[in-house]
Amino acid sequence: MNLLALPRTLRVGGGAVNETPAVLAGLELKRPLIVTDPFFAKNGLAERVAELLAQAKIATRTFSETVPDPTVASVEKAVAFLAAGDHDSVIGLGGGSPIDTAKAVAVLSVHGGKMRDYKAPHLQDEAGLPIIAIPTTAGTGSEATRFSIITDEERDEKMLCAGLAYLPIAALVDYELTLSMPARLTADTGVDAITHAIEAYVSKRANPFADALALAAMRTLWDNIRLAYADPANRAAREKMMLGATQAGIAFSNSSVALVHGMSRPIGAFFHLAHGLSNAMLLPAVTAFSAEAGLERYADCARTLRLATEHQSDAEAAQTLVDALFTLNADLAVPGPRRLGIEERRWQEVTPTMAQQAIASGSPANNPRVPDAAEIEALYGRIWQTS
Ligand SMILES: [Fe+2]
Repeated sequence: MNLLALPRTLRVGGGAVNETPAVLAGLELKRPLIVTDPFFAKNGLAERVAELLAQAKIATRTFSETVPDPTVASVEKAVAFLAAGDHDSVIGLGGGSPIDTAKAVAVLSVHGGKMRDYKAPHLQDEAGLPIIAIPTTAGTGSEATRFSIITDEERDEKMLCAGLAYLPIAALVDYELTLSMPARLTADTGVDAITHAIEAYVSKRANPFADALALAAMRTLWDNIRLAYADPANRAAREKMMLGATQAGIAFSNSSVALVHGMSRPIGAFFHLAHGLSNAMLLPAVTAFSAEAGLERYADCARTLRLATEHQSDAEAAQTLVDALFTLNADLAVPGPRRLGIEERRWQEVTPTMAQQAIASGSPANNPRVPDAAEIEALYGRIWQTS
């Protein structure tokens, strides 16, 4: 049996953000806290949402101090801010970090305790405050997932927090909010979404419901990522990337991610790289490592992306996928750890801890080929060599 879960409502399309008051009214929510970051506080988007809600007589306060890769301290600050007001819901407005912060606030403000208590394998299904998500990147899929990633800054660990309590009740998926994303962010978040689609499909927890969304998302994202990267103002490409990212989010929330994400979170925790970037540098090498244990599934991906035909064997098709992922990284100018200025000594020094954290997150156990610690360490070594 599969547990399938989606937001109760998704409004997808240009201008969807204008529907925020109607969505809240429909849910009888009257006192939301807007959770966003300093960028959207300054550029007017948070104000625009607050103004829309004010016109509908919905009173808001705005917490705008979320940080990239939200830390326990930053979440606690937001929880205290919420407690100083009178709120019945939270609106996560921004990229994955503000949305994940809003999710953590929604749970902690109702159930108390420390964020560390909620780290996987803990499952938080009992509801917190209702969450409304308004994403501004086409990538994390957080608007449609039952996960939040919070960094334990004392232990340099990105904690995976899972359960239905983190699933937004509603999401407003408006591609127009992504039109101003710079090329680098477009590439990194886009590859994150492609990784969600591939990992959801090859995961040991794959199921027919998630499969359909994963394959649809994969093709949509693949066909549009280079366009959106080269021409950030391309509205058609942006619209498709946003749709694909949300579909991929639904897919992995109802299947799982796997080894790429398991290995990516520790890189982010130790070296403070953007989540999509650390995924991107891992995706080709991890796919090469994993393919032999899931040839049929990887071949399906290759054929869906029209990289291979039915006449080629699964092994040949899977190899075309690996090759195409290396080419995609080159086309999107994805830098490796060395080019980012990370010290080799430091990379090697933390490799055993990164491998342990990866395994502890549970994600590698969903991979078609389940690696041991030594194999994960060897993969981190390979990532270094190829950069
Ligand atoms: Fe991701």
